[in-house]
Order: sequence, then structure tokens, then C-alpha cells
Amino acid sequence: MSNGDNMKKMSEKASLEAFQGESMAHMKYNIYADVAEKEGYPNIARMFRAIAYAEQVHASNHARNLGYVGRTEENLSDAINGENFEVEEMYPSYMLTAEMQKEDGAKRAFHYALEAEKIHAKMYGDAKEMANEGRDAGDESIYICPICGYTHVGSEHDSCPVCGYKGEFRKF
Ligand code: FE2
Ligand code: FE2
Ligand code: FE2
Repeated sequence: MSNGDNMKKMSEKASLEAFQGESMAHMKYNIYADVAEKEGYPNIARMFRAIAYAEQVHASNHARNLGYVGRTEENLSDAINGENFEVEEMYPSYMLTAEMQKEDGAKRAFHYALEAEKIHAKMYGDAKEMANEGRDAGDESIYICPICGYTHVGSEHDSCPVCGYKGEFRKF
């Protein structure tokens, strides 16, 4: 994970900006694909998904050059740190900002994310303990609420405990 340490500064800065841009394009195209699907454009949806994947390939190449990608134990540590930062500092302070500015939509989205990130940090922590011993995580199904991202391992809920959604969760 040391390529980023050796890269010349301007190339490193360019790689970071390229990684951020490609990451955002990947995410936006996947969201746009869902919209196209709902609006009855399956082939436009397919095009968005295909190109989103190409942007993921580009982002992966930049991430590797930046030294962001390690072995699974290292990647889990990075994921745990990221989720914990969101839980302990980022989303609590974002929620206060949205509260102060009476931005209800933003506040709700921050709350939804905060609740899920707590679970993500725990899941990654459990997985890291296993990976440290060279073992894979358990094979229980993982369910995601499509409205708020609430994440649950094991069996499906009747309704989402965070947002109240009663439809189908996405299963992994
Ligand atoms: Fe690209
Ligand atoms: Fe998360
Ligand atoms: Fe939910």
C-alpha cells in the first residue's frame, strides 16, 4: 500500500481528483440507471450500468496508484475507520448543521446514514476478527432497506426499524 508515498505530488493530486470524479460518476450513473428502469427505459438503464462499471474500473486504477488498496485485513481496517469517523464525528455534526438551518431533507438523510453506519462499523469489525485468523465471514443473508440503507444480517424484517418502510429489502 505504498505506491501513493512514492508518486510525485502533482500526479498524486491528479490521481486523487480523478479517483473522486470517477467515483462520483460511478455512483451517479447507477442512480440514473435506477431512474431509467423505473421510467421504462431498460436499455438506457443497461447503458448507465455498463458505463458505471467502466468508471469503477477507472476509479480502481487510480485507487491502486494512490496506495488505497491493500489486503482484505487492511481494507477492513480502513473501512472500520471510515465508518467510525462517520458515526462519531461526521454525521452527528452534519445533523446539527441541518437542524440549525432547518433543512429537514438533509437532516433525515444524515440520520438514515448515521444509523446504518453504526451497523456497518460493527459488521466490518466482526469480519476483521475472522479475517485476522484467515477465516471468511459467515454466510447469513444481508438485507438492505432501499429507502434508508438500514442494514440487517440474518432474516428479513417486517418493516424497517429506522424509516418504517414495509416493502421488500434488497438481499445480498
Ligand atoms: Fe471514466
Ligand atoms: Fe457505511
Ligand atoms: Fe429503512
